[in-house]
Amino acid sequence: MPIPKAELHLHIEGTLEPELAFALAARNDVELPYADTEELRKAYLFEDLQSFLDLYYGLMAVLRTEADFEELADAYLTRAAAQGVRHAEIFFDPQAHIARGVPIGTVIEGLSRALDRSEERHGVSTRLIMCFLRDESAESAMETLRAAEPYLDRIIGVGLDSAEVGHPPAKFKEVYEAAAALGLRLVAHAGEEGPPAYITEALDVLRVERVDHGLRCVEDPELVERLVRERVPLTLCPLSNVRLRAIDMLEEHPLARMLDAGLMCTVNSDDPAYFGGYVDDTFHAVREALGIGQEQLRTLARNSFEAAFLDRNAADEEL
Ligand code: ADE
Ligand code: ZN
Repeated sequence: MPIPKAELHLHIEGTLEPELAFALAARNDVELPYADTEELRKAYLFEDLQSFLDLYYGLMAVLRTEADFEELADAYLTRAAAQGVRHAEIFFDPQAHIARGVPIGTVIEGLSRALDRSEERHGVSTRLIMCFLRDESAESAMETLRAAEPYLDRIIGVGLDSAEVGHPPAKFKEVYEAAAALGLRLVAHAGEEGPPAYITEALDVLRVERVDHGLRCVEDPELVERLVRERVPLTLCPLSNVRLRAIDMLEEHPLARMLDAGLMCTVNSDDPAYFGGYVDDTFHAVREALGIGQEQLRTLARNSFEAAFLDRNAADEEL
């Protein structure tokens, strides 16, 4: 039985398995530049974050209708339940769809169809977090926030993802202020490929409550001390870090050291269709590669509920 856990760093578009991509391509008459699923999988040899993003955004071409987004989310929730996930906070990238002529309403309504049935069908509670693409302009992010206003009852918070280096958090100060004023919770990717200073900026300028990845904090002892003191949750994604070459091999991942330092770490799958495993696979992998023991695995699971945007009672029930 997999350990019950919450997943807090999961891009729904990153759960698009090759088989579903080809099925949707056929249904929507979209031509893919790969002969079959095998050839597509062979392309999953990434140099860095950007080389992954190029393929990831390209494959989204198959997602066109509400039914497509519903099927995508339902497939993830089925797998997540089997991996012990009881609660999932799911990222989506509306700008990547709007740019292809798919309205934000299609994305949110489609995802909601699966999410609304998730507790009953899969025993997984859910929240949606809308991410802004940081390599697009701040104006585009603000337009996206405005476009999402009719759907705010479905969205718990906003995040920031895509190509990190050269796109520091401060670029999105105003849009994060506007999101906070709308009552949205705040998270951002920081310190995945970008420097530790981006983590500090996400905390001080964007006022985020959790840091997605936060891996490179280990390069700055004062920042580590602060993250421990303020108990800032980090949503780490060890398999992603290996596949996107943030680290050379899983055996070198600092997760065990980060836990020993007292950091509020969680373990997540990021884009599991691309990175070789869903969240319980990741728990197994870090146990094998890093010698993380049962007690630390329990700490990771407990942290995931504590760091979730659940009300206190619901989180305590899971613990
Ligand atoms: N979008 C999907 N996965 C991502 C990641 N690991 N980093 C930044 N943006 C992403
Ligand atoms: Zn991510």
